Amino acid sequence: MSPQPTLTLAVTKGRILGEALPLLARAGIVPTEDIAASRKLVFETQRPGVRILVLRGSDVPTYVQFGAADLGVAGKDMLLEHGGGEFYYEPIDLGIARCRLMTAGPIGGAPRSGRLRVATKYVNVARRYYAARGRQVDLVKLYGGMEVAPVIGLADEIVDIVDTGTTLTANRLEARELIADISSRLIVNKGALKTKFALIQPLLDGLRQVVGAAR
Ligand code: PRP
Repeated sequence: MSPQPTLTLAVTKGRILGEALPLLARAGIVPTEDIAASRKLVFETQRPGVRILVLRGSDVPTYVQFGAADLGVAGKDMLLEHGGGEFYYEPIDLGIARCRLMTAGPIGGAPRSGRLRVATKYVNVARRYYAARGRQVDLVKLYGGMEVAPVIGLADEIVDIVDTGTTLTANRLEARELIADISSRLIVNKGALKTKFALIQPLLDGLRQVVGAAR
């Protein structure tokens, strides 16, 4: 007998994982052990042949792009930043981990009209956003804690995720312009959808039903 084909689903760790697991469970995908209680990164599920990878959000599209994962759950922010959309489909908006990708700057500080220095981990998104508005910017790549950059003079503005707004307020910043509304998406490697269609299609149907019912 040939070995059973495996479906690998890469899920962004943290808040997205926490909100995705109940959705996945309702679609019949339940890890065989408590992911939160483990340092492992690969988990079998009760659905034969389906396993879950737990990754950083920025790595999920990479795994799916190269086919190392057949499917992924990632924030739209990460997909916008990563690009590579020619390698995967984005068939389902899971409607979880909703937030906004925004520009922000010091409270009351008028947006400067000249060249801006912008700190962000979303350098590709920011480059496109400001270029589309004819704004000249110098981008400073950071990996977290962007909100401190305008406070200590590293940057005039930031581009970052805003959820409750608490982090901005705590650092005396205010949201300025909305770049994109964000939620988590299910992505599927284009090649895998062809070669593993019989495995993937029922999973997509199940998730669509669950997400539809939740709305
Ligand atoms: C994210 C984001 C903001 C914060 C926004 O940070 O980068 O800092 O959440 O949430 P709020 O509007 O509810 O305050 P995260 O905690 O994910 O860490 P990071 O700074 O490493 O991205």
